[in-house]
Amino acid sequence: MVEILPSILSADFARLGEDIARVEKAGITKLHVDIMDGHFVPNLTMGPPVVKSIRKVTRLTLDVHLMITDPDKFAPIFIEAGADQISVHQEACPHLDRTLRMIQAEGALAGVVLNPATPVSTLDEVLDLADYVLIMSVNPGFGGQAFLPNSLRKVQQLEQRRRASGRHFYIEMDGGLGPDNIGAAVRAGCDWIVAGSSVFSSEDPESAVRTMQQVARDAMMVRA
Ligand code: DX5
Ligand code: ZN
Repeated sequence: MVEILPSILSADFARLGEDIARVEKAGITKLHVDIMDGHFVPNLTMGPPVVKSIRKVTRLTLDVHLMITDPDKFAPIFIEAGADQISVHQEACPHLDRTLRMIQAEGALAGVVLNPATPVSTLDEVLDLADYVLIMSVNPGFGGQAFLPNSLRKVQQLEQRRRASGRHFYIEMDGGLGPDNIGAAVRAGCDWIVAGSSVFSSEDPESAVRTMQQVARDAMMVRA
């Protein structure tokens, strides 16, 4: 099943609990949480106390995307705060194999993220290990940017590797996604679709998610 993961980056931070409750009504199972440190990306967002507060108001799986220069130091702290799955950037991890194993040992699913300029081949030695791979379809740092179509080719390359290996890992895509391009992402091989501004900048976030879930289901029929 393909899933839509609302990204709270575009939610109203003063009303986070209410915004989360609105998208939960659409029947989602996962929430995407963007952590930025002002170094790895040119923006700052939230830290572990916010994740801890979110954990108290929802049972959704918290998919925490670390856009920070020191994921080894902070991943365990976010897991302690309530993250269920943590993704780290390939570009920020000189010892990626060790980092992914550490996240799993701490009790979370371990994902690896690729920036638009980083080739899929850089993951060849960790595809046996990662629980999921996140393909960025914008340069990370901000919500509301335009989708970069090259990312679809990267998803196809990953999907080919997944089929060839026979090992399952999830493929996630993040950035510039909405009703118009989700179908292409799903047909390319995506399982998890992150959507920020297309959900929370809409008048009715619940129905925006429902629309995207339907688009994803329709595209899945074609893929299968
Ligand atoms: C961007 C973040 C995304 C962001 C996506 O750096 O990683 O998760 O929230 O926002 P949209 O869907 O608006 O591009
Ligand atoms: Zn993200």
